[in-house]
Amino acid sequence: MINQFTKNVKAAFIFAAILCLCISAYAKEDVQRERPGKLFSPSKIPLLEDAGRDEWQKPNEILNALNIKKGQTVADIGAGSGYLAVKLSERVSTTGTVYAEDIQQEMLDYMSKRLTEKELKNVTLVLGTMDDPKLPQNSLDVAILLSAYHEIAQPIDFIKKVKLALKPQGILAIMEFSDESPIGPPLRVRLPEDLVINELKQAGFTLSQRHTFLMPYQYFLVFSP
Ligand SMILES: C[S@@+](CC[C@H](N)C(=O)[O-])C[C@H]1O[C@@H](n2cnc3c(N)ncnc32)[C@H](O)[C@@H]1O
Repeated sequence: MINQFTKNVKAAFIFAAILCLCISAYAKEDVQRERPGKLFSPSKIPLLEDAGRDEWQKPNEILNALNIKKGQTVADIGAGSGYLAVKLSERVSTTGTVYAEDIQQEMLDYMSKRLTEKELKNVTLVLGTMDDPKLPQNSLDVAILLSAYHEIAQPIDFIKKVKLALKPQGILAIMEFSDESPIGPPLRVRLPEDLVINELKQAGFTLSQRHTFLMPYQYFLVFSP
């Protein structure tokens, strides 16, 4: 009798667990994705510069994972207020170069002030356009798109231009908010990881590394041309 009861309880738990999985999978399928996401407004720069961001964004670990070194040439594409560009500038040091690119002049103006205050002279600000980051060809060791890829309207054509800017051994890193992240843009503008990998493949890149240390906030993909 007790045995039968235990079996029934177990079966009920398994059924409930399967039901939950099905509901959550269905709910995700049901999300109407929007592409591209709205441009991040300069009025929200304080969010990018939030003091607590380092805790989950782990910028130094990102730079370590990408093996960014003194003397390298790197690009922060969709750099916003320069949160990462400043850290890149310090890491590549005076013998290196950082291209901090964005399509919103207000973002570049904010960065410019910040770089002057910090006396960082190795950062070149670049005003790109929606379909062209306007970076010098064959110049980059590393290109990074941090929380910016989802805002790009024609990602495949755009990434083909990034490819031209990379050196033959250069790498491209993309970090985007996962569906599971408790913070970040609305679910409808977040991009499934598989979709990004597929688009990068179409632009001529191969996935070479997939880091998980930013999860559950962001997935972190590294591609080679
Ligand atoms: C959410 S913000 C992230 C800023 C920064 N990467 C960070 O993590 O602090 C996205 C930025 O991407 C820029 N952006 C959007 N589309 C772009 C494009 N096609 N080329 C370059 N930048 C773009 C926006 O102007 C915005 O500053």
